[in-house]
Amino acid sequence: MPTPQPAIFRENTPHHFFLEYRLRPGWHADALTRSLRSALDARPDDTNLLLAFGRDAWERLAPDAVPDNFIAFHPVLGRQDRTAPGTQGDLLFWLHGARHDLNVQCALAIGRALAGIATLELEQHGFVYLDSRDLTGFIDGTENPRDAEARTAALIPDGMTGAGGSFVLTQQWAHDLERFGALRQDEQEAVFGRTRPDSVAIDDAPPTAHVKRVELEVDGEELKIYRRSVPWGGLRQHGLYFLAFSREIMVFAMQLDRMFGRADDGLMDRLTEFSAPVSGSYWYAPALETLRAAVGAAPE
Ligand code: HEM
Repeated sequence: MPTPQPAIFRENTPHHFFLEYRLRPGWHADALTRSLRSALDARPDDTNLLLAFGRDAWERLAPDAVPDNFIAFHPVLGRQDRTAPGTQGDLLFWLHGARHDLNVQCALAIGRALAGIATLELEQHGFVYLDSRDLTGFIDGTENPRDAEARTAALIPDGMTGAGGSFVLTQQWAHDLERFGALRQDEQEAVFGRTRPDSVAIDDAPPTAHVKRVELEVDGEELKIYRRSVPWGGLRQHGLYFLAFSREIMVFAMQLDRMFGRADDGLMDRLTEFSAPVSGSYWYAPALETLRAAVGAAPE
């Protein structure tokens, strides 16, 4: 299988930085590949860098290497006025490593490389909080697949267009921690379907609990995604930058439908009472060989 971008699977990095860009109208493929080569050149050795593309940008750069079912993110219109907005971008850079300063140094160089060709739509510092907890206090990642299982969940399989690459969902979620903090601990646990101190599954969790909305089984097969989300923010604003990888984009779409009341049972995820997404994009992170063929460089 072609080699996946190593940044996807490098875990235990405390500092994260996300950049989402939209290309300016009239952009040229030559100018973009030149800019991307100098952006990729700027990566310090100790910083992991992932580069991913929105559907339109990738189709223009590599029309013969577009994976099946690669769609742009469209807003998910949920019940009770709760929606997942679509802010589809063209380029996603995810930097992560041991040092925030190196991430910033790299982000500044990317900014210089893309000046004139793309507009920065979102920049966000993210960080690992305590023992990998979301700011609500709940451990995030307990059921995440590991090692070979993570690769199976995340990577487009051999033999398919885009093999070794991965579909990506990013959503910046903003939390209402005051509202969530007003719940008793057992009420908070019913929201997630797990206990707060040690993330033990609650057997009789209600069908509206977060884990019950996102656990997916189709024809007896459990459909997994590989999550790399991190908290963001400080006192005034805060939340989770949701970042996940999948071999199949429709798994994300089905999970979001189940969270926003668009599945047959019409139920909303209780989490949406306390947190709301403010951005949403689907991306494709090509394998190194695919990226080298399209751009002339890749983040090794
Ligand atoms: C505010 C946003 C979110 C927060 C705070 C959050 C937090 C959590 C927590 C605490 C867990 C339980 C522990 C674990 O297994 O990791 C969990 C599980 C999970 N979440 Fe989320 N999540 C958020 C959004 C999402 C979204 C948007 C998706 C999918 C599109 C998603 C997919 C999953 C999956 C697949 C699991 C594992 C379920 C299982 O197999 O038990 N989450 N999340």
